[in-house]
Amino acid sequence: MDTKQSLAALIADTIEECFMGVEGLPTADDIAGFLEIPPQKEMGDYAFPCFKLSKVLRKGPPVIASMLAGAVGENDLARAEQMGGYLNFFLQRDNFAQKTLETVLAAGEDYGKGDEGAGKTVCLDYSSINIAKRFHIGHLSTTMLGQSLSRIYQFLGYKTVGINHLGDWGTQFGKLIYAYKTWGEKEDVEKRGVEALTELYVKFHDEAEKDPSLDDEGRRWFKAIEDGNEEALELFNWFKALTLRDTQRVYDLLGVKFDSYNGEAFYNDKMGRVIDELKAKNLLTVSEGASIVDLDQDETGMPPCLILKKDGATLYATRDIAAALWRKDEYDFDKCLYVVAYQQDLHFRQWFKVVEKMGYEWAKDLVHVAFGMISYEGQSLSTRKGHVVFLEDLLHSAIEKARAIIEEKSPNLENKDEVARQVGIGAVIYADLQNGRIKDINFCWDDVLSFDGETGPYVQYTHARCCSALRKAAELEPVEPDYSALSDDYAQELLRQLSRFPETVREAAKRYEPSIITRAVTELCKAYNKFYYENRIIVDEAGVREARIRLTRAVKNTIKTGLYLIGMEAPERM
Ligand code: ARG
Repeated sequence: MDTKQSLAALIADTIEECFMGVEGLPTADDIAGFLEIPPQKEMGDYAFPCFKLSKVLRKGPPVIASMLAGAVGENDLARAEQMGGYLNFFLQRDNFAQKTLETVLAAGEDYGKGDEGAGKTVCLDYSSINIAKRFHIGHLSTTMLGQSLSRIYQFLGYKTVGINHLGDWGTQFGKLIYAYKTWGEKEDVEKRGVEALTELYVKFHDEAEKDPSLDDEGRRWFKAIEDGNEEALELFNWFKALTLRDTQRVYDLLGVKFDSYNGEAFYNDKMGRVIDELKAKNLLTVSEGASIVDLDQDETGMPPCLILKKDGATLYATRDIAAALWRKDEYDFDKCLYVVAYQQDLHFRQWFKVVEKMGYEWAKDLVHVAFGMISYEGQSLSTRKGHVVFLEDLLHSAIEKARAIIEEKSPNLENKDEVARQVGIGAVIYADLQNGRIKDINFCWDDVLSFDGETGPYVQYTHARCCSALRKAAELEPVEPDYSALSDDYAQELLRQLSRFPETVREAAKRYEPSIITRAVTELCKAYNKFYYENRIIVDEAGVREARIRLTRAVKNTIKTGLYLIGMEAPERM
């Protein structure tokens, strides 16, 4: 039992004792939910708002608070005081230190883990790259948010299914086939992959501007893919393989894996069901030749959702509806998350509404996890203006720059390449998951790679600092810790943060917000560094030393777990 739960149990028992026989008294779990953290330290560590009881007890909150304060008084766990309608608790510092460290250290790197998700499945649609397009930094956030959310849900016991919903369907692939057949060279494309394909695509557009009949050629080849023409399919599958080969290098660098690569094309033969159901449920109407689902614009503010174009072709939304139905059948998800840029907000709201109108109650389990834009050194990204930053290049620069810093700071480090990779990649991931996801990000090298301030290297460095203290301690005999050595404000602040970590993880899961963990880990590092400057760890007095070592170990484990949950590694030396 952690401190908060123990406190909740204590309060529940006291209420029972004081108000025996009253119906509807709250349980310890209810009380744990009511407990607040006071805004100022002078008001204690926890506060119980007694107005939560005034209805069942038919008494004013201050009266209840004063009765309970008298009954609790002071014990091993805490001292209680009435403050207005609140019962405020001041934890006994030694006891709090002991309890917290015992809990954290018993769990090791699993501290904060849970099984509340057991038997439940979360599908995560993320990264979802487009075939024949290079992986640029506009796809960094979806990739890292998705990866982190997968880890967070797994940590809480959920089964997760990571889906890369490939953009592998559309007329552009017909154009690409035409361009390749007209101007392409097999060896060059095989060697340079997506880069060569992108050039061919650009060439097609330039030429089509001069000769619009090329667009018809493009459409013909796209139809050939759809009709299963052998040559068309072979070329298209080759483009797909090349794209996946090139993106795999980026995924390997980032440590990202997927369970499924079923993309838009996978649903080609699953569209009939959507159309049939929509018709059967009288949801489909024809407007100017196209088939749409009306979304009651007056009420929802949303224009109709386009399902079939005039020529009978399906759309992005039609495919997303087909995919949702298929995923529900296949995985029976409890939640299906779509980690996609905010710009697609209307798209998701529209087709979620269509699924709801189809009568599927699980439409409420579809969630658009939206995020803001990323710019690079103050410049926004735009393919059209030619200002693109490729993710692979960015990651390699990060590693190189980290390597140069390490060379300067720790010339004697043994595995510099490995650490440079961990620090460089980590710095990029940290920068991406540092702030609330809806906020736009400006990626700036000086900020990202700095060793002080709120950065990936700073957090990793604090972890390495803990490891170094623990290495020194490893040579000493362990003794009984003297927990009273941890009653100073610095140690107590650290303990408070440690004790809140499990809640932090749950909050991040609930709000689909990895940055909550990034921030908590950063605060933990700041608090540890303050503690470290105020207190020597390896002191002569064995009991004091042991207490500080235990605290250091608990901090180290928690930083490592937190970093893992946002997708970062934690080097032991740097
Ligand atoms: N490929 C799309 C893009 O790059 C993202 C797809 C997101 N997933 C989905 N099921 N719509 O914009």
